[in-house]
Amino acid sequence: MNIFNTKKEIKSYLTAQKQKNKTIGFVPTMGALHKGHLSLIKEAKKKNDLVVVSIFVNPTQFNNTIDFVKYPKTLENDTKLLNSVLCDVLFLPSAEEIYTQNIVSDKFDFDGLEHQMEGKHRKGHFDGVATVVKTFFEIIDPDIAYFGQKDFQQLQIIKKMVQKHRLNTKIKGCPIFRENDGLAMSSRNTRLTETHRKAVPFIYKILEKVREQFNVDNTLEITEWVEDEFKKNTTLELEYFTIAEEKTLKSEKNKASDKKYRAFIAVFAGEIRLIDNLQLKNN
Ligand code: PAF
Repeated sequence: MNIFNTKKEIKSYLTAQKQKNKTIGFVPTMGALHKGHLSLIKEAKKKNDLVVVSIFVNPTQFNNTIDFVKYPKTLENDTKLLNSVLCDVLFLPSAEEIYTQNIVSDKFDFDGLEHQMEGKHRKGHFDGVATVVKTFFEIIDPDIAYFGQKDFQQLQIIKKMVQKHRLNTKIKGCPIFRENDGLAMSSRNTRLTETHRKAVPFIYKILEKVREQFNVDNTLEITEWVEDEFKKNTTLELEYFTIAEEKTLKSEKNKASDKKYRAFIAVFAGEIRLIDNLQLKNN
């Protein structure tokens, strides 16, 4: 695996590869890699000649300094995992390399997608994500970039950014990877205390019940039920639960048979904030 720290090095390597007509798959990450990341890399390997993975804990997308400072860093293990799935290139830039002088985000307009859910609770988060992903796309110019559906709102926002800025990269969303007890894989899971780790499978259990109830109750009744269930849970704190339409990400009271819906949830387990979502079947 080739490892590059600077834009200049990686650009010159990839330019030479493109001249040989090699296609490039790209998986942006913040490190602390788990099976979910590896599934994106495996998918990218199937469809591209070369796979580039970036590891960069992007400061501008954190609205909480403690979360940024304590974000898990496991570079040695990440490198081993990347070698095990035959990753071709690892891009490991510094903040100065990506942001040059000022570590600030650009401002984006995602036609309202950015004002829903995570956007309401994490001010500036999506401007930070879009700034870094757009910068990576400019440096790497990938044919296809891979994102997990756990961050479904992020996935929709990246697709919107590509459309609005007429970028050449195709965006591929990949399924959520779960632990055996249903917990969605996330780098932040390693920071859970033993008590919280035992408690968090509750999140997926609730989402599964929501999926069952989706054809019986209306979205308001389901939301109230979820909120009541979390009030009874003394270990976890619900930040939001909503059922939203996949394209607009807006919460909808009435279901339409020609639209796709998802249940979205954000929960605090102590100081660790977890998000998850599940597609709902509209019978
Ligand atoms: O999903 C993530 O890990 C990050 O938001 C991303 C896409 C790597 C941008 O920093």
